[in-house]
Amino acid sequence: MTGPAVSAPPTGPARPWALLAELTHACPLHCPYCSNPLELARRSAELSTGQWADVLRQAGELGVVHTHLSGGEPLLRADLEEIVAAAESAGIYTQLVTSGTGLDEERLAALTAAGLRSVQLSVQHAEPRANDRIAGRPSSFAEKERAARLVRAAGLPLGLNVVLHRDNLDAVDALVELGEAWGVDRIELANTQFYGWGLLNRDALLPSREQLDRARRTVERRRRQLAGRVDLVWVVPDYFDGVAKPCMGGWGAVSLTVAPDGTVLPCPAAASLPDLCPPNVRDRSLAWIWEHSPAFGRYRGTEWMTGPCRECPRREEDFGGCRCQAFALTGDAARTDPACALSPDHHLVRDLADGGRPEPPPYLHRRPGAAPAAVHALAAAR
Ligand code: SF4
Ligand code: FES
Repeated sequence: MTGPAVSAPPTGPARPWALLAELTHACPLHCPYCSNPLELARRSAELSTGQWADVLRQAGELGVVHTHLSGGEPLLRADLEEIVAAAESAGIYTQLVTSGTGLDEERLAALTAAGLRSVQLSVQHAEPRANDRIAGRPSSFAEKERAARLVRAAGLPLGLNVVLHRDNLDAVDALVELGEAWGVDRIELANTQFYGWGLLNRDALLPSREQLDRARRTVERRRRQLAGRVDLVWVVPDYFDGVAKPCMGGWGAVSLTVAPDGTVLPCPAAASLPDLCPPNVRDRSLAWIWEHSPAFGRYRGTEWMTGPCRECPRREEDFGGCRCQAFALTGDAARTDPACALSPDHHLVRDLADGGRPEPPPYLHRRPGAAPAAVHALAAAR
């Protein structure tokens, strides 16, 4: 694959190389850890086919070489083939991020013909009933199994993505076995990041330190066994490790997110920051947004840093952690991420990580329109 010829601008930020295209918030699954915002975008507010094609054309010109076509469930977009084709003609490598629901042989053939390069399939558990309970959809596991078979038969690279939490961390060994049985090239074990619905369900999802330690040892053992065959990735649980993650590779540093309604964000959760005023591709070009918008400039680089980050030798490595997490936990997005052990707010996550684990509340499954009721129910339960 070759990208369009672009030359670096004489000044301004480095070019982005990745685009997360959230094509829709609609989804047949209802995962309680979903990082989508509580107020899900309505289908009537989504960008049209032509608008997505234009976004991808602009992204290619800006230097983007890789896009995750995500959601919600991107297969619910009837025009997904056209969107894939637009990415292909912009010189952008496409990876479909899907639950597998709605993928049949004909659809996959059309997507492959349009230029789709790889598929990342989500799985909630290795045991079908547990998978379907977490996903909030009875037939979900069988649909995933079928989707994996189709993708392998089509010869596309296949990755398995598992969001880990209290109810599936003890199944890591079985999940790796499942990945092997399904013939995947890569297994990503991503400990839950607490944004959106995940934050709302934090009490139900937070694991114990013992669970995490056991799973970590399993991953190390499995990694040695799988070396050279399957790539096994462990995304660290930042609440527990005392280390801030380099969220998105830095704010406005390497990637942009386009939400279903055309809002352009430095990360998928940034819509939660109340005074960010994010731009929209309906109003501005992607190049202007990347180079000149106040939203992308807000936490770019290190100048904005406060507290321990300002003098810290790690500030160019982790960029002070995650702005959305800092805001969610402290009310101030410019503070050091509380996940960092050096943060004055670190007790906010340390107390949760080390606290006892009473009987967890039931999941508040992600459903459109459920957020106000869910927030109310959560507040009443506390
Ligand atoms: Fe990273 Fe800031 Fe913590 Fe230093 S103080 S390790 S820059 S989050
Ligand atoms: Fe927004 Fe980390 S999720 S900066």
